[in-house]
Amino acid sequence: MSAYQIEVAIPDRSYTIEIAPGLLTSTRVLDVLESLSKKSRICIVTHPILMNPYVLPLIEGLKERGLDPFVHVVPSGEHRKTLATVARMYDAFIEAKLDRKGLVVVIGGGVLGDAGGFAAASYLRGIRFVQIPTTLLAHVDSSVGGKTGVDLPQGKNLIGSFHQPSSVLIDPKTLQTLPIRELRAGLAEVIKYGIIYDNPFFVKVDALLPRILKRDMDALSEIIARSCEIKAEVVRQDETEQGLRAILNFGHTIGHALEAITNYRRYKHGEAIAIGMVVESRIGECIGQTPPETTQALIQTLQRAKLPVAFPSDVSVEQVLEAGQRDKKTLGGLLHFVLPLRIGEVNVRSDVPTSAIEMALQTFA
Ligand code: NAD
Ligand code: GLY
Repeated sequence: MSAYQIEVAIPDRSYTIEIAPGLLTSTRVLDVLESLSKKSRICIVTHPILMNPYVLPLIEGLKERGLDPFVHVVPSGEHRKTLATVARMYDAFIEAKLDRKGLVVVIGGGVLGDAGGFAAASYLRGIRFVQIPTTLLAHVDSSVGGKTGVDLPQGKNLIGSFHQPSSVLIDPKTLQTLPIRELRAGLAEVIKYGIIYDNPFFVKVDALLPRILKRDMDALSEIIARSCEIKAEVVRQDETEQGLRAILNFGHTIGHALEAITNYRRYKHGEAIAIGMVVESRIGECIGQTPPETTQALIQTLQRAKLPVAFPSDVSVEQVLEAGQRDKKTLGGLLHFVLPLRIGEVNVRSDVPTSAIEMALQTFA
């Protein structure tokens, strides 16, 4: 089966993403954690549902090597990506007597990776952490690049910091237990990479969809690896989003607004991004830069992945504009949008007139 190693080459803080089916049950994962812990305490942060299949076997292995990991279990859900959840993590770190050399190991999806990463970033002014992502979305996006944080009721990811993990260990076999709706949601971010960066990859993902949805390990490993490669390259060039990294936000201005307006409960993050990408591509059409065929190809691939593509009829333009004002990408009151030029190339626009947003949303009426 296919295995990949990808470097995230950030000066002084570079790290490796390792991708291999079976990695989580191999001695390699124990080697990495043992060498990073340097005999300091490890605190594993995870979800209840992941304990039996993934966390308990790992704890056994670590114990056999003389390590004594502490486990903190967090209930699932985007609505729990909050400061209160992070505060409970601090309590757990203190109970585990985690010191400055301690290691946080996050085993879960993007919600836990973001919140656990932020707890590690802020505890004792920052300790090391490892990402062991278990959703497709976390494999291809959230575990890589060091963005950590939590939501506020007013908006997504409004609190956070950049804190790079020391290692990212991806086992595509964890996707065997992932609900199909979550697998599809992760595909939205994979499709995003094709649109923003890599036309041939967009075509390849479309062709691989039947195998991906059947959880073929080689197909999954291949798309995870290419997604991580693209993200690693973008992050290497622009870690803190001064320019290029913003292209990763395609679909996110509308997507984040939709998540906040619907109280983080109606849509999976990837579903909101799927709708956001279609709306933003239509906005690109309305200002005359996105060819309609690009939007059409995007919609067809999203539909083949069984992702939503229609903006909901009970959300108004006013709600979107208001939520947009609280988006952290908004500068001086101007909403920022990433808009396609063609499949494989986008640009960032802060000059989109409100009329174009209205016009794009009306196309869903
Ligand atoms: P999630 O973390 O909520 O996980 C989805 C669900 O799957 C949860 O119920 C979880 O318990 C369950 N689950 C996880 N792994 C499982 C497995 N192997 N088997 C069975 N169930 C499993 O959602 P997500 O889609 O992974 O992440 C979304 C979050 O990621 C959002 O908050 C988004 O803002 C964030 N994100 C962050 C970045 C970043 O760069 N930091 C990038 C993209 C998205
Ligand atoms: N998901 C956007 C980023 O990592 O920059």
